[in-house]
Amino acid sequence: MLEVDVVIVGAGASGLMCAIEAGKRKRRVFVLEAANKPGKKILMSGGGRCNFTNYTVEAEHYLSENAHFCKSALSRYTQWDFLELIHQYNIPYHEREHGQLFCNETARDILNLLLSECDKVDVDIQLNADIQAIHKRSESGFKVKTRSQEILCQSLVIATGGLSIPKMGATPFAYKVAEQFGIKVQPTRAGLVPFTLHVEDKAKYAALSGLALPAVISNERQSFTENLLFTHRGLSGPVALQMSSYWREGEELAINLLPGLDLQQQLLQAKKEKIKLKVKNYLTQFLAKRLVSIFLQEELLEICLSDLSHKQIETIAEQFNNWKIKPNGTEGYRTAEVTLGGVDCHAVSSKTLQANQVAGLYFVGEALDISGWLGGYNFQWAWASGWCAGQTV
Ligand code: FDA
Repeated sequence: MLEVDVVIVGAGASGLMCAIEAGKRKRRVFVLEAANKPGKKILMSGGGRCNFTNYTVEAEHYLSENAHFCKSALSRYTQWDFLELIHQYNIPYHEREHGQLFCNETARDILNLLLSECDKVDVDIQLNADIQAIHKRSESGFKVKTRSQEILCQSLVIATGGLSIPKMGATPFAYKVAEQFGIKVQPTRAGLVPFTLHVEDKAKYAALSGLALPAVISNERQSFTENLLFTHRGLSGPVALQMSSYWREGEELAINLLPGLDLQQQLLQAKKEKIKLKVKNYLTQFLAKRLVSIFLQEELLEICLSDLSHKQIETIAEQFNNWKIKPNGTEGYRTAEVTLGGVDCHAVSSKTLQANQVAGLYFVGEALDISGWLGGYNFQWAWASGWCAGQTV
């Protein structure tokens, strides 16, 4: 029987950060990872370049049933703290729009940094671990049973992430542990995920597959401005992924395909000035030809701006400035970047990440009901929550 101070389940972003911090405090740390390699999601993140944090991190960039929960950890371990590590390791990085920070070369730089820090403080990482049971011991601490051994520990940290990308080894392990100890789990669903369209819409917009353009997507609660990408399944691109986290089944979205251009005003002005330009020639100054011809009927496209009726102007403006579309659904966990919902934050200390009613049990990272926007916010949450738990475990 092995006896350690801390067992961390999951060698992802939050688990490795927690291991490093606990190791620095001279705690004997044992990490159990189900996959054959640590940090697989880090490696695939940000298109292989890992958007590891953001210059601006605020509570409003996160979704949770407990909106204030993330504030404590995010203020104790900030993006500047993580950047200090990046600078220590001389990892080249760059800023993209909205303050997003990416590696210049490869996401492996981030994983190597974490593994090297783990090494410095003698963290043990066991891969291919198969946890069969967890028992709370009557005195204190836990017994963790894997297929090959039993491990006693004082603190147990659940850092197994959410349900997104099951092919990468995502499991509902955290939710099961929470339930075992009577901790509520907020309903989960896929977030930061492309929309799929109903059959008729899919057929109608199929020819636009591959087309990207700036757009504003809104529903009654949120609005995002970024690039929209038409795919052969539906709508993707950063703006669609962001909105997916705020979308509810059956809800209609309003999409402005010409942000910053008030088409109704422009067309009224053109009519007043008696401009002899066909609608199609006017619109293709701003939009791809194939998009314009799918969105408007042939007879409208051929009319000169000077001859448009007020009703026609309204129709055209509505079509591009306020395109209404009701997605069929999303691509689900198969391609989602995050899982919305998870272990209820009301049941966990926002400062230490320890379960309020179960001494020694901690939840960190995406396993909790905290999901960030696209833009490095999910990793910043993983670093911050892992760091905070690492100070106490
Ligand atoms: P994470 O999922 O990283 O780690 C959990 C670990 O637990 C995994 O190693 C898993 O194998 C292991 N595990 C699961 N079940 C287990 C069990 N039963 N026993 C033992 N181990 C188990 N975020 C961001 O900020 N910037 C970005 O660029 C991206 N890009 C991105 C791309 C893609 C394709 C995805 C899917 C996700 C992103 N994300 C992102 C989100 C980000 O990857 C995610 O929020 C963090 O990795 C969450 O960190 P965790 O440590 O909580 O879980």
